Amino acid sequence: MADLHPDNPYAKVRFPDRGKLVEFLPDAKKRFDHILTRYPTKEAALLPTLHLAQEEWGWISPEVVHYVGSLLDLSPATVFGVVSFYNMYNQKPVGKYHLQVCTNLSCMVTNAYDIYEHLCEKLGVNPGETTGDGRYTVAEVECLGSCGTAPVVQVNNDYHENMDVRKMDELLAKLK
Ligand code: FES
Repeated sequence: MADLHPDNPYAKVRFPDRGKLVEFLPDAKKRFDHILTRYPTKEAALLPTLHLAQEEWGWISPEVVHYVGSLLDLSPATVFGVVSFYNMYNQKPVGKYHLQVCTNLSCMVTNAYDIYEHLCEKLGVNPGETTGDGRYTVAEVECLGSCGTAPVVQVNNDYHENMDVRKMDELLAKLK
C-alpha cells in the first residue's frame, strides 16, 4: 500500500518510533522540575512542558508526545489533543526561522496574502514548506491575537506588526 500523506492522521510518520528514545538533558530536566513546582497538578503543567520540549527539539514529534505524557501521567491522546489544538506547537520539523503569516480577517484585509505569497515566491517554497537549506519555513496561521496591528507575521517567538512586503524583505535580510 502506498504511504499515506504525512498530514493524514493514520500516516506512519505520526506514530512514535519505539526505537527512538527522547529525554530531557539535565538542564532541561531541571527547568521541567521547576515548572512542576509552579502548578497545582501535573496536568496543569502541560502547556509549559510542551513549550520546553519544543525549545529542546524544535517540534513536537510523536516520540515527544509520548515522553511528555509519561512525565505528566497523561495519555498520548490527551497530549496530542493539546498539541494539535494550538498552532504554536509545531507538528513537524521547521526551519531555523519559522515565518508564520496570519491570514485571518484583519490581516487578510490589510494584505497579509501579499506578504505570504511574496515569501513563498522569494524563498521558492510551497505554503507550509521549508527551504532546502533548512533556514526558513513559511506557514499560514490563524489569528495571532494582535488584530489592531495587522498584518502580523510571527518569526519564531517574536511578533512583527503592521507588516508589508517591503518590511518583510528588510526583516528577511536580517535573518541570517
Ligand atoms: S487577524 Fe491577524 S492577528 Fe488577528
